[in-house]
Amino acid sequence: MTSNIEQLKQSLKQVNAKYAGIKNVPPTERKAFGVKLNREKQKILDALDQALTAQTSAEVEPIDLTAPAAPNQPLPQLRRGTKHPLTTEIDRVVDIYSRMGFQIVESRQLDDEFHMFDSLNFPPGHPARDGYDTFRTSEGFIPPAHTSTMQHRVLKGHRSDLENGGQIAVVMPGRVFRNEDVDATHEHTFYQCEGVFVSAGANLGQMLGLLRQFFETYYGQKLNIRTQPGYFPFTEPSLEFLIEKPATLGATGWLEMLGCGMIHPNVLKMAGINPDKYRGFAWGGGIDRLVMLKYGLSDVRYFESAKLDFLKEF
Ligand code: DAH
Repeated sequence: MTSNIEQLKQSLKQVNAKYAGIKNVPPTERKAFGVKLNREKQKILDALDQALTAQTSAEVEPIDLTAPAAPNQPLPQLRRGTKHPLTTEIDRVVDIYSRMGFQIVESRQLDDEFHMFDSLNFPPGHPARDGYDTFRTSEGFIPPAHTSTMQHRVLKGHRSDLENGGQIAVVMPGRVFRNEDVDATHEHTFYQCEGVFVSAGANLGQMLGLLRQFFETYYGQKLNIRTQPGYFPFTEPSLEFLIEKPATLGATGWLEMLGCGMIHPNVLKMAGINPDKYRGFAWGGGIDRLVMLKYGLSDVRYFESAKLDFLKEF
């Protein structure tokens, strides 16, 4: 079969070569010469086509539909993928907070002006709104620029827990979006984790203890922590929370991990919670940064790059 195909291919080459001879044929005979060659070539092509079809069908192993099933045959070897490093780390973050007693609510990927700003005590037209480089859809929706967009919903939804003598303890991980100039430390799409805790006696000391415990559990070692004054319309006072980079991770200096503070009375009020009776603290920070420090990564763009070399490391 194969040698027949080879012969036909050879003949095809010879016919093609004959076309060049047309310049030696007297002009009046050229037409007939061409027609004859074309016919000859078509014959070879048809034969070649038939031979190739026959060969392909002969190579396909027929399936015997009446054969009994063979359950003990080995399964085909499938190539296994791995979880994206951020997915793995979000699972770890969520696991730590769950063990501390927090409920987990995933943050939305499309929200609105009210949850992004108004419910968080950003006055209309306040310049702090511009600090969030927010995307907007033509219908006026907002892909959230921070997970704080979830605060109002969660506070309102869990208000009855307070009235029943309990507390609100919820953590909200999710994907956020900002109209950033992308570079090694800025991405347009990244992940944050938000937390709220409300009770009759919540205070900053509890918050710092909780955050220390979270970071020490995540990095598996004792850490030095520090706060410095910050500004967020939805907390009063507002703080920035820093950790000293662990030497074991080959890093030095202080790194700002999140923003936090006591929830502003207006935010509680808007969610129907009486700020004279209950107090709360909230915090929110980037997950990408958390993971970058853990693995010593210097470029945030790797996470969204779909580079297999990078992803296979995890
Ligand atoms: N949402 C803020 C940001 O993305 C971070 C933040 C600050 C969250 C203070 C909070 C908070 O919950 O209390 O910059």
